[in-house]
Amino acid sequence: MAESSHSSQTSVQYDDSIKFIKSCADEFQWKDLSEDVVMDIGCGHELNCCKAKLMQFPEVTALIAVDNNRTVLKKTHFRDRRIQFCFGDIRSRDSLKSYEGKMDKVISTNTFHQILDKEKAFRNVYRLLKPGGEAGFFFCVNSCAHNFLTILSEIPKYEAILKDTFALKLHAPKHGEKYYKELLEKIGFKHVRAFEEEMKLPFSSDSSFKDFLEDLDINLKLSPEGAETFEAEALQLYEKKFGRHEGKLRYVYVQLNLLGVKPIQS
Ligand SMILES: C[S@@+](CC[C@H](N)C(=O)[O-])C[C@H]1O[C@@H](n2cnc3c(N)ncnc32)[C@H](O)[C@@H]1O
Repeated sequence: MAESSHSSQTSVQYDDSIKFIKSCADEFQWKDLSEDVVMDIGCGHELNCCKAKLMQFPEVTALIAVDNNRTVLKKTHFRDRRIQFCFGDIRSRDSLKSYEGKMDKVISTNTFHQILDKEKAFRNVYRLLKPGGEAGFFFCVNSCAHNFLTILSEIPKYEAILKDTFALKLHAPKHGEKYYKELLEKIGFKHVRAFEEEMKLPFSSDSSFKDFLEDLDINLKLSPEGAETFEAEALQLYEKKFGRHEGKLRYVYVQLNLLGVKPIQS
């Protein structure tokens, strides 16, 4: 999940990680990772993906948990002898240079949607892998947040204030499974598999729509009354566009499962 803010967000991301690791294990036919060093890009403070790997592959040699935010790394309370923390940015080759060619697997969940120059980041992942190493990415490629912001930004009075909203730039909806499969192949990955999944999450209540708006990081620069009007109009518009299911607004998004292998000889 990308920008949605629901009370269940953490558990959704944990469940997503468990499901994604299972899918990697099936696709790559993982049985025993006792010889493997696995890197997790964008580990986050909850370490959802690391925990999912440890649960399914407790014998793994080591997990390198990477994040480009020091505060996130400081906030992690979970400790395990198999996890090594690393402050690094997958967009910057230098920040992870000492790991190049040493990783058996690189996995990343719910992070690549935040990266604008994805090609550069995928190239750095390729460099981190050993020959024969495997990579798996799970990230949002489209969401109703993007469509919603686009519609909002077409309303003249909101156009100017929304133009710098980061989420508007996040997902280029024209980039889906075909685009990313070809991108990985261009970089040199083999056996590339890409498939999209549409996910639907109900908002717990209409008041959580306010949190959703806050998470979109819109710098409204409006008076308190103006902000209230904006919230009401935004909710109305969202309901009109995406409807309700069993009385609840829903957050609809598309996640991409993207897997590839670095060839033994490249
Ligand atoms: C939404 S969290 C996902 C956490 C976890 N992987 C999960 O699925 O729950 C994304 C994390 O990626 C980190 N991140 C974003 N861009 C990154 C980058 N370029 N390099 C490394 N980490 C990054 C953020 O700091 C954040 O902690």
